[in-house]
Amino acid sequence: MKAILAIIKPHKLADVTLALRKLEGLAGMTVTDVRGFGRTRAEGAGELVPDDVADFVRKSRIDIICNDSVATTIVETIRKHAHTGAHGDGKIYSWSIEKAVRISSGETENDAV
Ligand SMILES: Nc1ncnc2c1ncn2[C@@H]1O[C@H](COP(=O)(O)OP(=O)(O)OP(=O)(O)O)[C@@H](O)[C@H]1O
Ligand SMILES: [Mg+2]
Repeated sequence: MKAILAIIKPHKLADVTLALRKLEGLAGMTVTDVRGFGRTRAEGAGELVPDDVADFVRKSRIDIICNDSVATTIVETIRKHAHTGAHGDGKIYSWSIEKAVRISSGETENDAV
């Protein structure tokens, strides 16, 4: 199983979500409103969080746990649909995980994703 973490521009969230929902292997996703900065700052000056001393910019965070076979497709789908070509488009990170439990049924690992 893989964990995928994507931090994208909020106005791209709808596009990305619609594209992800068309994929066979997507079991679910979690979305969170977050703020942060990358190595280039000051992009999207109009999106700065008011009253913040740091130069945080609002972003949308997507967390997905999936089976290994669909991980590459999910990453590529996010990349394609979150892309504008400007600074601040975001990041996608992925790593292997060892445990998943479906609480309602008690299933574990790939069956639980
Ligand atoms: N190394 C990191 N660790 C944790 N979060 C990060 C990291 N890099 C970026 N982020 C998060 O992703 C958001 C978008 O990053 P961003 O796309 O601006 O990265 P960047 O490195 O500045 O690249 P770019 O030049 O394309 O802007 C940041 O606001 C922050 O929330
Ligand atoms: Mg940046």
